[in-house]
Amino acid sequence: MPSNVSVALVGLGGYGNHYLGEFFNSELPGHIKLVAVVDPNPVSCEHLAEIKAAGLPLFPDLDAMYKDIKPDLVIIAAPIHLHTPMTCKALEMGSHVLCEKPLAATLDDAVTMLEAQESSGGRQVAVGYQWSYAPATIRLKKDIMGGRFGRPLRMKTISLWPRMASYYARAPWAGRIKLGGNYVMDSPVTNATAHYLHNMLYLLGAEDYLAAVPEKVTAEIYRAKETENYDTGMVRVITESGVEVLFYTTHSCKHQIGPLLQFDFEDASIVFAGGAGEVYIARFKGGTVENYGSPNDMPEAKVVLTVDSILDGGRFRCDARAACSHLMVTNAIQKSAADIPVFPSDLVKEEKLDNDSLVYASALDEVMLQCYSSNILPSEFGSVHWARPASEISISPDFKI
Ligand SMILES: NC(=O)c1ccc[n+]([C@@H]2O[C@H](COP(=O)([O-])OP(=O)(O)OC[C@H]3O[C@@H](n4cnc5c(N)ncnc54)[C@H](O)[C@@H]3O)[C@@H](O)[C@H]2O)c1
Repeated sequence: MPSNVSVALVGLGGYGNHYLGEFFNSELPGHIKLVAVVDPNPVSCEHLAEIKAAGLPLFPDLDAMYKDIKPDLVIIAAPIHLHTPMTCKALEMGSHVLCEKPLAATLDDAVTMLEAQESSGGRQVAVGYQWSYAPATIRLKKDIMGGRFGRPLRMKTISLWPRMASYYARAPWAGRIKLGGNYVMDSPVTNATAHYLHNMLYLLGAEDYLAAVPEKVTAEIYRAKETENYDTGMVRVITESGVEVLFYTTHSCKHQIGPLLQFDFEDASIVFAGGAGEVYIARFKGGTVENYGSPNDMPEAKVVLTVDSILDGGRFRCDARAACSHLMVTNAIQKSAADIPVFPSDLVKEEKLDNDSLVYASALDEVMLQCYSSNILPSEFGSVHWARPASEISISPDFKI
């Protein structure tokens, strides 16, 4: 019987509801004990009655919590710009951390977090990219590292996820570059679909707990919505070992499509079987086909495996360092565009749906799907009048971790 591990959850609304559901619906093993919750204004928390019934103390901030309770693990599901101060505080007070993605808004913040981890006497920071903890991804990464598919050549993923006005209205930080002087950098690449860019870099990492480091980044970003940051991003990354990684994502599409993915190796290609399945299928050149399972299975594995590592003293599976590769790319994307081009006004449409509305760019879905299938960015198409060529950014050695 493993010893108990005490956990505090910070941020109870939004995605915090997912963690609370795992605790209250007994999806987590009994030795993982929720002992405290923290939120100054938990109005969007759907589990307040269960929190009260369980007698869990609710604190307005971490300072108040640490006066009473020192949990083994602090899960941070608070807004992006709070990840760094909260993680540093929890490490300083002797807790391990499972921080939601993205690790931070900027690479400078991530360095601050790594330094705090370094001086915490062995505490670690895991990052909440749930695909990285799924059995399907772990098995696939092992076989990629072991050379089963041959040399990696190119990985690509596309995700067209329309987001309504209510998505951006839910929180003051949504769609922002900065809020109150702090960087937020909220965008589809850093938030809702961040998983899929991180997943490619993580699968290409040389160790269980490492992601491939980007060498060059070329990005085109656009927006249709009235947000400060971009709502559409298309990016080509060349990793240090020369693998091309392409990522296409938008919240200003008309239809929900994806994620679709294709990972090409010398001896095999890996694709996602569409529909409800969403399983990794490896097709080998000799004709063999193998199903690796779904990365959506066992979302609770990120808590379970992180707690296992606390108990056995092992290294966290998807730690802060692994998550920095994604940040190097997103910070380079942000740097590459001094201003964010807005789609031409004749393309921008608004559709009212119930009490909500969707602003989208017409024909964007088709352009992005064609770019994905041809491995190009819109400006390389030749006939996309709104496309703006982007310059390639080299990730300098002092911008690497
Ligand atoms: N892993 C996933 O699939 C997934 C999915 C959605 C969101 N997320 C991540 O979860 C984080 C939160 O996103 P969200 O969309 O739920 O945000 P949100 O703004 O909808 O909810 C955040 C919650 O944090 C609380 N909060 C705000 N300030 C706080 C503070 N100082 N101390 C404690 N709590 C505070 C808010 O009251 C709210 O309850 C982000 O990092 C996001 O990227 C991850």
